[in-house]
Amino acid sequence: MTEKPILVTGGAGFIGSNFVLDWIGQEGSSVVNLDKLTYAGNVGNLARLKNDPRHKFIKGDIGDRALVRELLNRHRPRAVVNFAAESHVDRSIHGPEDFIQTNVDGTFHLLQESRAYWEKLAGNEKTVFRFLHISTDEVYGSLGPDDAPFTESSPYAPNSPYSASKAASDHLVRAFHHTYGLPTLTSNCSNNYGPYQFPEKLIPMVIMNALNRKALPVYGDGLNVRDWLYVEDHCEALRMVLAKGKPGEVYNIGGRNERKNIDVVRAICSLLDEMHPASSMGNYASLITFIKDRPGHDRRYAIDARKIERELGWKPSESFETGIRKTVQWYLDNMNWVENVASGEYQKWLDINYTSRGTA
Ligand code: NAD
Ligand code: DAU
Repeated sequence: MTEKPILVTGGAGFIGSNFVLDWIGQEGSSVVNLDKLTYAGNVGNLARLKNDPRHKFIKGDIGDRALVRELLNRHRPRAVVNFAAESHVDRSIHGPEDFIQTNVDGTFHLLQESRAYWEKLAGNEKTVFRFLHISTDEVYGSLGPDDAPFTESSPYAPNSPYSASKAASDHLVRAFHHTYGLPTLTSNCSNNYGPYQFPEKLIPMVIMNALNRKALPVYGDGLNVRDWLYVEDHCEALRMVLAKGKPGEVYNIGGRNERKNIDVVRAICSLLDEMHPASSMGNYASLITFIKDRPGHDRRYAIDARKIERELGWKPSESFETGIRKTVQWYLDNMNWVENVASGEYQKWLDINYTSRGTA
């Protein structure tokens, strides 16, 4: 195996761990995985790679300049793929500081060290190096019901501390390309779902609460719209961006699967009625509870993914119906994983965000 490794940050989180598993499976080359292991990071996601020499895990912070420098100089990666972030909007409302620390300062430090490393490279090593920054559609703000989906040139209008911190990081990435020539790539993706998603996010929370016969919390009127993308489709898109994307460019990634939240929750309930019937209780949908809305709740996100489809030839394989079925099945098959992550820290979060929140 002569191919140089890639340095993945945040590779023990939801999308990062799916990406690391997918990368090693599809590309076969090695991954250096730097993750701070916050509440959202879980090395258990990577259990399949336990004895695989192609995966090297390092617990650490992207803001630790000396550590990042040492990893870059020791492993000489051909790319840095930055997933590391605080990622949950509701947590950013309750405590924005960590979002600024990791998403803004952390990305800045990672960029500085990547630039210093890249500037010292020569020849082909320098030509092929890429810094891929994983961002979100939330930086574009909120759409009305009849607005066209977000394109790569939609203006930035972030509305939560989370999306503002991601927007700031995107701007830093852009500036490092424009000013220093760092060969950056940025991807802005819609809502992901699939295996290993932490149950603070809508889909895994609904599955988990339903299985525990707990209320299924729907914010506000449940009519907010998200554009859902199965995580493995996202991983494939990112491999294509890394392989064929043009330095300095931005690629929007979306599933063409706009759904209202209430329809997502109902779809999960009917799948559970079929796949895991709760005979004593009736239908799972009876657990749906409308609760007080998220402050500043963006109404609708939708991605126009025509650029990546046209230029890189990517298209998602899963429809929402096939992807959500696979996801519900994965959670049913992996209840141990769910029980392990639903620790004391998670229970504290449920108290902060849900107890005494009030109804819609
Ligand atoms: P996640 O919260 O599941 O995982 C984040 C990972 O980053 C965790 O493993 C955590 O331990 C690690 N991390 C946090 N701070 C760190 C630091 N300072 N140094 C090193 N590691 C750190 O998040 P996710 O849902 O997998 O999202 C990954 C990336 O994709 C994020 O940048 C997010 O903004 C972006 N994104 C997510 C979605 C989505 O629907 N989940 C959609 C679009 C974009
Ligand atoms: O759009 C991409 C973004 O998608 C990513 O950048 C974020 O990292 C990711 O967390 C996700 O953000 P959302 O806020 O859209 O995801 P979340 O799963 O938290 O919420 C999805 C929708 O469901 C949203 O409209 C809020 C609503 N919701 C969420 C929770 C947790 C509820 O109605 N009830 C809930 O309990």
